[in-house]
Amino acid sequence: MSTPLRLGIAGLGTVGAGVVKIVQRHAALLEARSGRPVTISAVSARDRTKERGLRLKDYAWEDDPVALARRDDVDVFVELVGGDSGPARNAVEAAIAAGKDVVTANKALLAHHGQALAEAAEAADAVIRFEAAVAGGIPVVKALTEGLAGNDVTRVMGVMNGTCNYILTRMESAGLPYADVFQEAADLGYLEADPNLDVGGIDAGHKLALLAAIAFGTQVDFDSVQLEGIGRITIDDIRQAADMGFRVKLLGVAQMSGRGLEQRMTPCLVPAASPLGQLEGGTNMVVLEGDSVGQIVLRGAGAGMGPTASAVMADVIDIARGTRLSTFGQPAAALKPAPAASTGTPASFYIRMTLQDKPGALAKIATVLGENGISIDRMRQYDHADTTAPVLIVTHRTARAALDTAIAAMAGTGVLVGEPVAIRIEDV
Ligand code: HSE
Repeated sequence: MSTPLRLGIAGLGTVGAGVVKIVQRHAALLEARSGRPVTISAVSARDRTKERGLRLKDYAWEDDPVALARRDDVDVFVELVGGDSGPARNAVEAAIAAGKDVVTANKALLAHHGQALAEAAEAADAVIRFEAAVAGGIPVVKALTEGLAGNDVTRVMGVMNGTCNYILTRMESAGLPYADVFQEAADLGYLEADPNLDVGGIDAGHKLALLAAIAFGTQVDFDSVQLEGIGRITIDDIRQAADMGFRVKLLGVAQMSGRGLEQRMTPCLVPAASPLGQLEGGTNMVVLEGDSVGQIVLRGAGAGMGPTASAVMADVIDIARGTRLSTFGQPAAALKPAPAASTGTPASFYIRMTLQDKPGALAKIATVLGENGISIDRMRQYDHADTTAPVLIVTHRTARAALDTAIAAMAGTGVLVGEPVAIRIEDV
């Protein structure tokens, strides 16, 4: 019999449990596809006594994931602990130092330390694979690293946080305000322990930074991702956008231009009829564009036991088969520091504001836009209150910087009530 590939699994939460179940349920399938058995030597988790509904008695137990990572009977360290520091980072570094391959679902760890870890892995002749870190069950890392390897990738887009997409689509379908649907998501257990990771766009920003590194051959640069969460999106925005043929999405966009690398994870309007516009509930979608392939769209579950464990196993099987890819698709030393774009690609913007309902108010706003070189495409007033009037403006293409200058100048007109909300309209 050929030599088994022996796993050490750190973290037995939802994903870890899913991986154990696949290894046990599909032993024959995994062996047939890998050309060798895939086995588990040892596991580790915070609480040994917790009932997980798993058969673990055949595996050694380690309280410390670092000890697990160093075990002689572990070939591949499967890190499903999470977090960009602490036990996850220590154990991954220990595994690499011991020359072991690593499979991880940890987007935060790689978004912050991906370059250093990739360099360390290559120096130790080990590989790091992270399909499960980006968009759960969607094989997007594989698609970019392998399937599109012959393309000059021009743009990567994605709805990669299911919780945000659930909140935005549920607000629209139920006509509920953000705060109510946020609470619903919390009650359903959809939110991360720190909800700002989801609704602040951080989790999805981590994923975008990883895809951008592969797509553009650059060092992971999460700090340059322009982040904006969904907390300021109102049911009004969603309704008005729908009325104009758009839907609101927390959309990640990465593209390289003469200005440098743009990485944005921000609320955007997309055409309601586009694949991104039709994405409902907690599902993820990634759109990849290359010079030869054109546009491809991948859609599927971005989280959950089965989908995420499926992605982990894809990496494990690759390693079992002897496939040894660089972490980000090319040797770590060849990845260049990302030149962060000083300005973004111009776009149309939707601006919602409330004005005092008095003569000349709208004219003052239009003047400020004109003075900043911003041309108005569409405009409407709706739902007048006693003394105020909500106003929507859709601009022609403009640079975000010009819009920000105009919005700052609007404060000086004396006709604004509260702060305007500006949402980019992405050309998808
Ligand atoms: N919290 C994430 C989401 C899943 O809602 O998509 C893990 O990244």
